[in-house]
Amino acid sequence: MKSCSAMESTSCLKFSLMSLIWIIVLMNEIHGYKGCLETERSALLEIKSFFISLSDIRYDDKILPSWVGEDDGMPSDCCDDWVGVMCNATTRRVMQLSLNYSQGLNSFYSTSASLLINMSLFHPFEELQSLDLSSNGFTGIYENRAYDSFGSLRQLKMLNLGNNDFNDSILPYLNTLTSLTTLNLRYNSIEGSRTKQGLVNLRYLQVLDLSQNNNITSGSLTRLGRLLR
Ligand SMILES: *[C@@H]1O[C@H](CO)[C@@H](O)[C@H](O)[C@H]1NC(C)=O
Ligand SMILES: *[C@@H]1O[C@H](CO)[C@@H](O)[C@H](O)[C@H]1NC(C)=O
Ligand SMILES: *[C@@H]1O[C@H](CO)[C@@H](O)[C@H](O)[C@H]1NC(C)=O
Ligand SMILES: *[C@@H]1O[C@H](CO)[C@@H](O)[C@H](O)[C@H]1NC(C)=O
Ligand SMILES: *[C@@H]1O[C@H](CO)[C@@H](O)[C@H](O)[C@H]1NC(C)=O
Repeated sequence: MKSCSAMESTSCLKFSLMSLIWIIVLMNEIHGYKGCLETERSALLEIKSFFISLSDIRYDDKILPSWVGEDDGMPSDCCDDWVGVMCNATTRRVMQLSLNYSQGLNSFYSTSASLLINMSLFHPFEELQSLDLSSNGFTGIYENRAYDSFGSLRQLKMLNLGNNDFNDSILPYLNTLTSLTTLNLRYNSIEGSRTKQGLVNLRYLQVLDLSQNNNITSGSLTRLGRLLR
């Protein structure tokens, strides 16, 4: 690099200013790099679109409003800025997702026969430990590739499906979440009568909430309990 002579001082000053601006831009880039993983960030935006697609158009603005690509022109970091998302401080990967009550009132109170959750949406989150999908009015899951999607949640310890309308058909899928320690199925339509295996593979399960499932009988509860481990 040339050093500045007196003659060139004006352009030299300009050059230094430009370098300074570049350094600031670069530092911003590096800072931005500490943000959440791009694959997880776009997967989160897909989840948001999914919830919007289920809801009444009137509620679109109320669904995960902090999950935006940019905030006042600055890229927004899904780990630090998005409500309901918590990341591991070291790996910056998503650890916790709270998607409770995400759809707005419409679907929850609607009488629509079925509202299916697409579990493939959670495929990229390999470090996910806690997932809250309570109070959304889901009745089931898309069967297509569902076993794969559940199987990828290897670190999932806490799953809250409370306040939905899942029935026994969800049990075989839940039975693949072998790291689960807490499973909340409160206020659903579980009967426990038609399941072959129950939740026999959930070896680490410590808390299972089956309260407020209308059609569960003491017989089916005993049977489920026997099939627990
Ligand atoms: C975050 O990730 C690191 C590296 O994988 C791991 O050692 C640590 O236990 C994680 N933290 C939490 C709170 O899970
Ligand atoms: C969702 O659950 C979290 C705790 O898991 C709670 O803090 C939050 O208020 C809940 N959100 C709604 C909209 O109910
Ligand atoms: C479920 O989500 C995955 C991943 O985003 C997508 O490829 C697939 O088309 C979705 N399936 C349905 C039935 O919407
Ligand atoms: C259980 O839920 C699934 C998915 O919504 C549905 O297809 C099935 O008919 C339900 N079974 C019963 C017995 O209600
Ligand atoms: C479950 O209970 C409700 C009433 O609480 C009843 O209308 C319904 O038919 C029952 N479903 C089954 C599959 O037995």
